[in-house]
Amino acid sequence: MWVLGNVSLLLGLMDSLTSMLPDFPDNYASPKSLVEIQRVNAAKEGRFPDDFLFGVSTSAYQTEGAWNVSGKGESIWDYATHNSPETVIDNSNGDIAANSYFMYKTDIDLAKQLGCNAFRISISWPRILPTGFPNSLNPKGIEHYDNVINEMLGRNITPVVTLFHWDLPKELQDLGGWANPLIVDWFVDYARIVFKAFGDRVKYWSTVNEPTVYCVYGYGGKMVPFVNHSGITEYLCGHHMLLAHAKAHKMYNEEFRQEQKGKVGLSISVPWAVASNPEDPEEVAGADRWFEFWGSWFLNPLFGHFGDYPENMKNRIAENSLKQGFPRSRLPEFTTEEISMLRNSTDFLGLNYYHASPVQKYLNYNVTSTVSFFGDIGMLEVPANENGAAFSDRSTPWALVSTIQKINKDFEVPMIMITENGYWDRGQLADIGRAKYYHQHLSELPGLIAQGINIRGYFAWSLIDNFEWSVGYTQKFGLFSVDYTVPERTRIPKISTKVISDFYKTRIIPLFLWSLNEVEFDINVGL
Ligand code: BGC
Repeated sequence: MWVLGNVSLLLGLMDSLTSMLPDFPDNYASPKSLVEIQRVNAAKEGRFPDDFLFGVSTSAYQTEGAWNVSGKGESIWDYATHNSPETVIDNSNGDIAANSYFMYKTDIDLAKQLGCNAFRISISWPRILPTGFPNSLNPKGIEHYDNVINEMLGRNITPVVTLFHWDLPKELQDLGGWANPLIVDWFVDYARIVFKAFGDRVKYWSTVNEPTVYCVYGYGGKMVPFVNHSGITEYLCGHHMLLAHAKAHKMYNEEFRQEQKGKVGLSISVPWAVASNPEDPEEVAGADRWFEFWGSWFLNPLFGHFGDYPENMKNRIAENSLKQGFPRSRLPEFTTEEISMLRNSTDFLGLNYYHASPVQKYLNYNVTSTVSFFGDIGMLEVPANENGAAFSDRSTPWALVSTIQKINKDFEVPMIMITENGYWDRGQLADIGRAKYYHQHLSELPGLIAQGINIRGYFAWSLIDNFEWSVGYTQKFGLFSVDYTVPERTRIPKISTKVISDFYKTRIIPLFLWSLNEVEFDINVGL
């Protein structure tokens, strides 16, 4: 039977739970301060540290709607969905979405009911600067986010704010978007306006959301903005995002840090690749390369003393480029000055983690005839089965553990926040798969913190069902369902809200006994 709720009962089970935590070897990074020792000790006892941020995550285009309200400019997603609706599987768009522009108080209230002490949102660049350029400031845009941030603070919720979650102003795309080196300064101009407007109250900034995913798909011809020069444009996009992030961080240091005392990081999706044939050493090496091209591509320049792309990645792209007739590598080079700007330019890593990715050799790839990002890796992702799972279960918490341990070992990451973690389904309220997924993933965190890894927050993706990019409204990630058939966009809790609120309110690992064949649940989960 599925045991729901009753926190006091769960508290009583804590002793046996803590005894289940493994012993931790002594050779992990030793804690430096009393607060850190307290954090580690709490985690060893199976508790989340007192200052741990528990939150939910959303993004502007996926939830806000109000696409042309109060002076907002057109984004690349507005343009694509209006002019080529077939861009999205169900021909839908984010014109109204979950109506969060008008319903932000409801959303913040739901987060509060879940027990959140943090909420990650993104700011829509074209709502602040309709053309993308700083001379087009829209006061109504500033006013809107002022209201949202103040509402959160009034409810003791810490805002974590992303500056770019994929909805680029259309006019900047007309000039090449992230392939144009000038975007580095356009982004810094925008960041300055945002830091100045909200930095007195926002202390956690994430400059860019999932740069690698955006660049590989958006600049590899598979997603908006559909720039299609694979093997060239992904790297240009990534190069300029790295520089834009580092330059915005430098600008924050020079102009705002002393007064505002915030942290500037970014959120990267780092997939854990698993060779589909573990007996094949070439495929195992290919899985390591997958991590390098998707993770170290950004982690290496930003975290630690490297300030540059991984050597192996540089060599591989250079060799392939020569074979293809390019006079130089398709991967741009950083100048010495840029390298020193990139080094240690990130106050925290926002880690977006969903599931492990099985990968296989790119068998019929012909390096001389095809220029391609995946050709450079020499690997492809194994296609998902009809359940959307490449593994039999899409919940792979062990891969979250491996990813965090590897990042902690190989890079100098001052602090990690898990800025996204989530599970998609078709939207049923009895979302047992999601409930179980959250329980399994959150349960791993105290063990990692007890190892001395500085994990300071966890954000579930997502608070509400929302516009899921190329798959529109066909995949749902919400803790709350949204009734898209009515103008009120009514929010309804799913079963998974119970798991999340038990974690967030008790700050321990609540015990749930899972027996999926005999699911009993009460749909009025009551938070
Ligand atoms: C993105 C979100 C997206 C989620 C689920 C992440 O790649 O940051 O915008 O909705 O994954 O696919």
